[in-house]
Amino acid sequence: MAERRKLKLGAMLHGVGSSTSLWRHPAIPSDASVNLSVYKRWVEKAEAAKFDLAFVADGLYINEKSIPHFLNRFEPLTILSALAAVSERIGLVGTLSTSYSEPFTVARQFGSLDVISGGRAGWNIVTSPLEGTALNFGKKDHPDHSKRYRIAKEFLEVVRGLWDSWEDDAFVRDKASGVFFDRSKLHTLDHTGEFFSVKGPLNIARSKQGHPVIFQAGASEVGKDYAAREADAVFTGPDTIEDAISYYQDVKRRAAAFGRNPEHVLIFPGIGPVIGSTPEEAERKYQEVLELVSAEDALLYLGRFFEHHDFSQYELDAPFPELGELGRNSFQSGTDKIKADAKTHRLTLRQVALSVATPRPTFIGTPAQVADRIQEWFERGGADGFMIGSSVPNGLEDFIEQVVPILQERGLFRTEYESDTLRGNLGIPIPANRYSQRTEVGQR
Ligand SMILES: Cc1cc2nc3c(=O)[nH]c(=O)nc-3n(C[C@H](O)[C@H](O)[C@H](O)COP(=O)(O)O)c2cc1C
Repeated sequence: MAERRKLKLGAMLHGVGSSTSLWRHPAIPSDASVNLSVYKRWVEKAEAAKFDLAFVADGLYINEKSIPHFLNRFEPLTILSALAAVSERIGLVGTLSTSYSEPFTVARQFGSLDVISGGRAGWNIVTSPLEGTALNFGKKDHPDHSKRYRIAKEFLEVVRGLWDSWEDDAFVRDKASGVFFDRSKLHTLDHTGEFFSVKGPLNIARSKQGHPVIFQAGASEVGKDYAAREADAVFTGPDTIEDAISYYQDVKRRAAAFGRNPEHVLIFPGIGPVIGSTPEEAERKYQEVLELVSAEDALLYLGRFFEHHDFSQYELDAPFPELGELGRNSFQSGTDKIKADAKTHRLTLRQVALSVATPRPTFIGTPAQVADRIQEWFERGGADGFMIGSSVPNGLEDFIEQVVPILQERGLFRTEYESDTLRGNLGIPIPANRYSQRTEVGQR
């Protein structure tokens, strides 16, 4: 009998949180974004609960208007390497931008994390939405949205090529004969393209999962195509189950059109569950967080999506202002949606700002109610798994302690890891080394 399809779970490690004011809550360590012990504790808890992965997001430009977590936080690869040393099974996924890095360095960093962790690394590819980023990298201009995706495509092509520099049995290390490696199993990439010129080979070999797992969060048309063509797993942020199902079907259909098995592209909505012993307690927790956010904070938060636009110049209770093209070259899909929702529902600036800064969680209620909703999204085809973040203090811990056991009892989530690699646990294939493959089919 076929194994029942199981849910996948990821833990978002996000310091003091993705809002302006959560750090002020008494239950949050105010230095959580730079506190190794806090990150360690989260990863240990997520691993004890058999989560597939822990994820560290990133960005490359801040100013004084940025939210507290962005102002002072760990660089993903560095913190993930530390976490690799205190975990054994959980996947370790970090964001790194293809618009402001070099493929050789990135291939090497993720290749190293993959070996350090024994095949548990994942790379969330982003193209960097914020225009100011260019100023931190000695560049005059921030490449436009579509160019950023063209760069990302070639970038990943190069990185994957470099990861295959060494065939899996290249290192002989025979002390008696003095043969360290088999020369025929070392391959030089020699890539020259529109954006990159990289000779290779890379100075680290593949881990036992072949390549780090590729994550992406494409939401625009070009972004969804990229995710469907390249990613093993996709992050998304739908508001409703209908949005989730439509995104899921869209990306799976695109993957099939690119000749891929759609089951090998896993869709992970990101959610911030709010859990209480009664629905009223859950509601109270959400209200507590709402009360910490001033309209001024909410305007700053909203502004970041629009190139740090100064929204304080508008009347708070007037209709959401007309912004033209503003925001289209940064968070394109997000800002398009904010503008469209404001128009459709005739929202004021205050309403838009508050709904963006502290959106009402879709997953709110008792542990059983949250588990029901997860099950519904999973079984109706809106998700293969979920990224669990904390929109209230201890949101992730509450989920681990109170919802995971229900999901396990219902047979929806594992009680033991199936594998010690991230690919193994996610149930996605190990990519064959392109050169070993050629030998196998006898084309050399
Ligand atoms: C769970 C999740 C995690 C994300 N992590 C990051 C991140 O670490 N850094 C970043 O710049 N964007 C991150 N994003 C945002 C996406 O990159 C964003 O949706 C992007 O604008 C994709 O849309 P596009 O197709 O317009 O490029 C994340 C989105 C989700 C849903």
